[in-house]
Amino acid sequence: MTGKLKIGVIGGGGWLAQTIVKALLAKGVVSERELAISYRSKTPADFSAALLTRDSQQLVDACETVILSVRPADFENLRINAAGKRVISVMAGISMARIASATQALCILRAMPNVAANIGYSYTPVVASSTATHADIAITRKIFEACGQCDEVKSEEHLDYLTGLTGSGPAYPALLAAALKADAVARGIAPDVAERAVFQLLVGSGHLMEKDPKPMAEIVREFVDYKGAIAAAITTMQENGFDQAVSRGLQAALAKVRSLG
Ligand SMILES: NC(=O)c1ccc[n+]([C@@H]2O[C@H](COP(=O)([O-])OP(=O)(O)OC[C@H]3O[C@@H](n4cnc5c(N)ncnc54)[C@H](OP(=O)(O)O)[C@@H]3O)[C@@H](O)[C@H]2O)c1
Repeated sequence: MTGKLKIGVIGGGGWLAQTIVKALLAKGVVSERELAISYRSKTPADFSAALLTRDSQQLVDACETVILSVRPADFENLRINAAGKRVISVMAGISMARIASATQALCILRAMPNVAANIGYSYTPVVASSTATHADIAITRKIFEACGQCDEVKSEEHLDYLTGLTGSGPAYPALLAAALKADAVARGIAPDVAERAVFQLLVGSGHLMEKDPKPMAEIVREFVDYKGAIAAAITTMQENGFDQAVSRGLQAALAKVRSLG
């Protein structure tokens, strides 16, 4: 390091920026003094030892690594020159080409954490520009491993696709859970009992899968091979277009992500 502040986060008043900053501090990736945070209307309440500024260019000038965490719609109005800096964007759908042309940065990485970053359980895919070095990728991984697990993916297309998949956080498990609960309630089960039953089903399954990891398809096959009541449900759900509905939903998410850019 050159003695400059190590990591700057633009959009520091926002939810994700604060989540990332807290994870970095909690895991000791940086100290407050090695952080710079820029904000627009809401001054970050904590982090008094960090450089807090409304001037994002001041942040860029002070840092080697700049995390862009403003909403896609606000990116257009962000005026920074980040030539020579490592720029990591968590903005959904904004391409590296657009970031390069707006910021003059050459080394760009895109990452897409999800809401579970708040509890250290995010899954974060990362894609790097061809100009990024192993060190750039390693630093980016270190940042997002503070928030959970992280993989490098091959293309922006894959990152945009995963934005609609893992970027969803609890959305799809909740969708399934809501459908299960609605069916249980329609069968006369009390709503509070149905809610508790489905909640515990999801939470218990998550813990079980974490404790005894197996490929998902293997878990499904074990139930199907058992040929019991659950096999009847799985087969009927699949015959009624379960997999196709998931695939079409993810296709729609990808189209929406692309439209943000
Ligand atoms: N939330 C998630 O789970 C999640 C997951 C993955 C990726 N992302 C991405 O992360 C980014 C931030 O999302 P978020 O949920 O944290 O949104 P957010 O809470 O609205 O935070 C965005 C922050 O950026 C600030 N901002 C806007 N323009 C700025 C500027 N020129 N200089 C400094 N700060 C500026 C906003 O300030 P004001 O307070 O003035 O509006 C706001 O505090 C988005 O691009 C989103 O696509 C979010």
